[in-house]
Amino acid sequence: MILLNWQKIFSQLNSEQCNQLKRHRLDAEVGSTNEIAMESFSKNDDIPAVCLAEAQTSGRGRNGRHWVSPQSQNIYMSVVWRFNNGMDTLPALSLAVGVVVADIIKNYGIDVDLKWPNDVLVKGKKIAGVLIESRIKPNGSIDAVIGVGVNVAMGVKDSVMIDQPWSDLDTEKTIKEELDRSQIAGKLLSAIMSLCSNYEQKGFDEYRPRWLEYDICSGREVQILENDMTYYGDCVGIDETGALKVVVDGVEKLLYAADVSVRVSA
Ligand code: BTN
Repeated sequence: MILLNWQKIFSQLNSEQCNQLKRHRLDAEVGSTNEIAMESFSKNDDIPAVCLAEAQTSGRGRNGRHWVSPQSQNIYMSVVWRFNNGMDTLPALSLAVGVVVADIIKNYGIDVDLKWPNDVLVKGKKIAGVLIESRIKPNGSIDAVIGVGVNVAMGVKDSVMIDQPWSDLDTEKTIKEELDRSQIAGKLLSAIMSLCSNYEQKGFDEYRPRWLEYDICSGREVQILENDMTYYGDCVGIDETGALKVVVDGVEKLLYAADVSVRVSA
């Protein structure tokens, strides 16, 4: 078992990014890296910062799900970033992060897809996930904790806990190169930092066409779960805020990730 190594992680960052990062922390085991990042960095204004863990006991997924996080097999990372100028585009940030995660996975020769808003899938199986949690500061700035989990080599024993189809980089990669978790974590950290540095000025516009290239929902029927209701619609893409566009009974409707979850119909 090879542990994560900061020297290798930092070798993937440019010098500006190395200087920019105020704190970095790697724990053997935590409840959730998102929780640690919010509590230890946002509270003390140590931002930007990153928290990594070899294992999580209460890894958080979207919609209250548990993110299975066994020891030293995968990547569990939370980056904290402060956005100062309001954030109309914050809802779409999680889609943009999905794009950068998908780009990294694609580099291992994997045919990767995105399912709205930010499920990272390979052949319909989840290989990575993004969970952004945010806090508004008294001065109006927003601290966003960008949590990313990537299944690198899950191991069958731990996978029995996962309640959805899943895969990992080790199973799916088509390149010969050995997987190095520190290298992958470094690439991920660097890409998230680049994204956040530009996001306040540039917003989601640059990422929208890239997101659509990975999209598996457009042109297909989706099942929509909203409160206790289930209904169907035809997906026709996303708008400039990252909302999902669906046609239900001939009428176009916008869906927001905080309100609904969707499944692609078989
Ligand atoms: C999803 O359900 O798709 C989102 C999963 C996000 C998991 C990551 S692992 C690192 C960070 N810490 C957490 O507790 N969750 C996120």
